Formats: sequence, C-alpha cells, structure tokens
Amino acid sequence: MKVYLETFGCQMNRLDSELVASVLVQAGHEMVRDGRGADVVLYNTCSVREHAEEKVHSRLGEQMHRGGRGRRMIVGVLGCMAQRLGDDLRKRYACVDIVCGPGRLHELGDLIAEAGAGQGRVALDPRRGERKSGADIESLDSARDADLVPSASQAYVRVMRGCDKFCSYCIVPFVRGPETSRRPEDVAAEVRRLVDTGRSEITLLGQTVNSYNFSDGGRTVRFGDLLGMLSPIGGLRRLRFVTSHPVGFDDDILQAMRDLPNVCEYIHCPPQSGSDRVLGAMNRGYTRSEYDDFIARARAIVPSVVLAGDFIVGFPGETEEDHSASAELIRRSGFKNSFIFKYSPRDGTTAARRLADDVPLDVKKRRNNELLAVQAEVSLAHHRAMIGRTVEVLVEGPSPRANRQASPATKDKTQLIGRSRWDHIVVFDGPDSLAGTYADVSVYDATSLTLFGRRAR
Ligand code: 5AD
Ligand code: SF4
Repeated sequence: MKVYLETFGCQMNRLDSELVASVLVQAGHEMVRDGRGADVVLYNTCSVREHAEEKVHSRLGEQMHRGGRGRRMIVGVLGCMAQRLGDDLRKRYACVDIVCGPGRLHELGDLIAEAGAGQGRVALDPRRGERKSGADIESLDSARDADLVPSASQAYVRVMRGCDKFCSYCIVPFVRGPETSRRPEDVAAEVRRLVDTGRSEITLLGQTVNSYNFSDGGRTVRFGDLLGMLSPIGGLRRLRFVTSHPVGFDDDILQAMRDLPNVCEYIHCPPQSGSDRVLGAMNRGYTRSEYDDFIARARAIVPSVVLAGDFIVGFPGETEEDHSASAELIRRSGFKNSFIFKYSPRDGTTAARRLADDVPLDVKKRRNNELLAVQAEVSLAHHRAMIGRTVEVLVEGPSPRANRQASPATKDKTQLIGRSRWDHIVVFDGPDSLAGTYADVSVYDATSLTLFGRRAR
C-alpha cells in the first residue's frame, strides 16, 4: 500500500516516524510524499501544547470532508495524542481506523492489515504502573534498517523512553509512560550499525536523557557510563545528546564530555523559569541557585561548553517579577539559543487540575516576545564571540533560501549550511560535493542565529 505519514512535535516523534517508515517498508509498503494518492494516511501526533493538537484536529476534519468523495483511505492517529485521547478519536472522527500509542508503533503493520480488512483498532500503551513487555520497548528500534535512515551523515538513536519527573505542566509522563532505559549493548549495536553505514554523527535521544539508568543483575549503567561505552566506536566522530534535565546532571557526564574527544560540548538543559516560586509550582526539583550551580559546574569542568534552554512564559501565577527573573537567567547563563513557549494547560496534569490559567494571552505573548528579544541579544553576543575562529562543521547541504545572503550561486559554489560541534549553524560557500563531509570554516560574521564563514585552506 502507499503510505503517507505526517509528523508533528519533537525529535523523538521524528525518530519514531523514521522507525515506523522503516518497519512499513520492510513489510512491503511504499512511503509516499503526497497524501492525496495514498492508501493509508498516518499522523504521528504531539500533545505537549494545545496548538500541536489543534493542527491534527484540523487534518482529521479535512479527512472527514474528503471521506464522502472518492476512494476510502485508511486513516491512523499515532503517538502522544493517540495515547491521550484513545477511542474518543474514533468516536469523534468516523474516518479514523487506527489509534496507536507511542509504545505500540511496532504493531502498525498488523494494524494496517487489519484495517484493510475492515477491522480498525485502538492499540494503546499500558497505563503507568502496568508493566510493558520487553518486546514493546525494544522491537521498534532494533528493527531499524540503516539503509532507510534519511541522512547519510547523521542519525538519532533512542536511549530511553518516557519520563518520571512529573513537572506539573507536562503531559509527557502520562502519554510516554515511565522512564525505561534500553540495554546499553542494544544501543551500542545500533550506533555501530549506523556508523558502519556511513553516519559519523549520532545524537542520543531521551526525554530526560541524562536520567539514563540501566540495571540488570549486579550492574548499573548510568548515562556517563553509556557515553564511555559508545565513544570508542570507530568512525564515530561526533556523539551528541538531547534533552537534559538539571537534576542528575552529575560531574561524571561533564567529565565524559571533557575527556572523550567525540562527545560534543553542547548541553540543551531547559531551566523553564528563573523564579524559585514558579520553579516550585512547576515541580522542577531545583531552585534557580541550583540551576546556576549546574551552569557554573558545567563551565568549570568543560570550559568550551555551549548551553541552550527552554522557557515557559505565563505559567499560572507568574508575576512581572518572576518573568524578569527568567530574563535575568538568560543573561546570566549566556545560552546560545532558547525555545520560549506560552503556557498551555494540559488536561490530566497537576497544573491544569489545581492552578487557574490566569495569565491573559496578550500578557503571555508580550512576555514571550520579551524573552525572545533578550535571548536574541545574548545569542548575538555569543555568536559574535565566534568571529575570527575556525570551526569544523558537518556539512548538511545547500542552505535554505531564508539563510542566503546576496552572493549569487555558481556551478561549483553554492551557499552551504553546516553545524559545528557546539550546534552553531554555519553558512559558507563551497561545492555541493561537500555535503555529508567535514569542512573547516573560518568565521567572519554573525547574526543571532547564524555564523557566516569561508572555507579555511
Ligand atoms: N505548555 C507550554 N510549554 C510546555 N512545554 C512542555 N509542556 C508545556 C506546556 N504545558 C515545553 C517545555 C519543554 C518543551 C519541550 O515544551 O519548555 O521543555
Ligand atoms: Fe510531543 Fe512531548 Fe510527545 Fe514529543 S514527547 S511528541 S513533544 S508530547
């Protein structure tokens, strides 16, 4: 069958979609780029904010419209929103055949076959507290076909699923279930396969990746240990990881970053707020001075470290003073970049249950813009400090139009885009043939988002 798959949300979802495509192609299906000619339309969904769910509702609304006309398509909703809404999705949208939770994606081939025979089905993950089977945890990832990884030079590898942190605003622990770490040997085998097929940059993924903790029998492997196990893999030039949580980001991880040459000195570790009162209400498990200590520790052990953050503006009860504390934290911490989100109450979370969403939308918008403006200043200073340095970049390919400066493209010189080991976006001229290779680029200019450079000889 021709399968169209659209993905919403985070990196974890993009990886899930890639693995789903791998499983379906192995089962004989064909992935297509246009939903109109497809036999099966799948949406891999996100529940983290209302806005992400609205997009899927609008897609399903369009599908309902289309339903009356033409050929009958199989429609499936996958991922976090499927897990959150379950059978309600089928009740609300008669066109939906398949509802599949994020831990059941390896069953999708069967679900599609059944739906093709007229038997749509809801397959959800067990509720938190009920045990998952080992097969459910491992089978999607280990069935991966390295030849189907979209990039020839880099790949994502999941090291853990789920989250046990229960930040009061967050739906993830409910939809992605409890923290479960993969066996380190399975992770290592996957990394080795990806490297052997040409990928030299691997990014380890977890909702709170530094909480990785695998125990069996007498041994315990923590995240720092895992980095130590993966780093020696021959041909692995860059080892990255996202996303981190400030609690449990122990010195051994920072020491691994310092001592293992291919572990990149980049940490995306969201503070969410700079105000102790808000951090407490968010149940983040640290104070702003503890976050400051984490940054100080990171900079002391890894002087070249580059940091990035996430913030939520307009959390219930957030005052102007709390908001200023977040702006101050951005300035103090010198983040390369931050993602800023407007608080969005999620049904089932403690914040939604106990706290009124009392910051008006126009105030959330203003605070969002203010934090973006502060971050843009800090980002510009950070990027300008790179001018005059030569950085090694992994070349992704031609730069999208938005990043182009006025220089005209010629046959052997295109504007290329690459990433430094610190996650800087670097734009420079060079031949297309550099895509997927490493190039040394000397930086001559910078904006808040981008470095501009020339190939160093
Ligand atoms: N409202 C707004 N932003 C949220 N995030 C998570 N939950 C919510 C919510 N309910 C943000 C956090 C997290 C990022 C992935 O999404 O900043 O780090
Ligand atoms: Fe969305 Fe979070 Fe689920 Fe990722 S884990 S898809 S961001 S709800």
